[in-house]
Amino acid sequence: MRQYAAEIIANAQIATGYFELTFLWPEEGEAPRPGQFISLKSYGITDLILRRPFAVSAFDAAKGEARIVYQIKGEATRALAGRLAGERLDVIGPLGNTFPAPNGARPVLVGGGVGLGPILYHGNTLAAQGERPLVVLGFRGASLIPELASRCRFEPVLCTDDGSVGHRGTVVDYLRGLPRDGLSGGELYVCGPNPMMAGCHSLAADLDLACWVSMEQIMGCGVGACMGCAIPIAGSAAYARVCTEGPVFPSRMVAWTSL
Ligand SMILES: Cc1cc2nc3c(=O)[nH]c(=O)nc-3n(C[C@H](O)[C@H](O)[C@H](O)COP(=O)(O)OP(=O)(O)OC[C@H]3O[C@@H](n4cnc5c(N)ncnc54)[C@H](O)[C@@H]3O)c2cc1C
Ligand code: FES
Repeated sequence: MRQYAAEIIANAQIATGYFELTFLWPEEGEAPRPGQFISLKSYGITDLILRRPFAVSAFDAAKGEARIVYQIKGEATRALAGRLAGERLDVIGPLGNTFPAPNGARPVLVGGGVGLGPILYHGNTLAAQGERPLVVLGFRGASLIPELASRCRFEPVLCTDDGSVGHRGTVVDYLRGLPRDGLSGGELYVCGPNPMMAGCHSLAADLDLACWVSMEQIMGCGVGACMGCAIPIAGSAAYARVCTEGPVFPSRMVAWTSL
């Protein structure tokens, strides 16, 4: 992990409210792995004290470039969307743990909303290693799909709330509709809104499958000092920090009803 001034290569809108940022990764820096994130600050936004976390969505070692996909939420992401190629960002990374390796059965990757980034990176990395992951991506509508689907090394199953593309309904509806042996012992890797991850956890528990979730809590310090990102641990009064112990956790560790 290191802190550096990262040059922006591109910062393009890919759908309404969604942008993709491509930036230079330091040559001598440790390469980010699927599940890991960066903590970012936009120089010149002086009233924003806290850094903001974003999952790495792609890494090209040959070009020395990394990417994130981000959604405009508030002040920091709005400011980030105005940054131009050639400008620099204050980046710390790579941070956090990674998705564990699959258990030998076909891995099942599930992404939705801003949780798409780490799932795309994990899916493309597994495909490059010769795996055939089942990747199920959920969208509210069709707008994000053309841009993202064009660069996947796998054929994703698409689900939209409105049924405009792919299966109508949520990713959990789709997975629940598969035949009982449809997931054939594969572990689940999930990133997206908490209700989606809780739904995947409950499906995995029903089928006795391992399920890994990448949690996206609001963060304070980003380095384990403030407990601002803590999540409640199931069956105990303990908490775990997403920034240092996570962001990837076994889903059975998370107290889903207390989030
Ligand atoms: C490990 C990790 C990885 C992440 N990866 C991505 C990513 O790849 N792409 C992406 O778009 N976002 C990602 N996020 C969320 C991102 O950090 C927030 O959207 C961002 O910090 C919002 O900053 P802001 O100043 O624009 O909005 P703020 O003004 O800080 O917040 C605007 C609204 O968004 C809510 N919000 C802020 N942060 C979060 C959060 N972490 N989770 C849920 N709601 C939040 C706030 O409650 C508020 O309602 C990730 C978060 C974590 C912890
Ligand atoms: S953000 Fe401060 S401990 Fe995680």
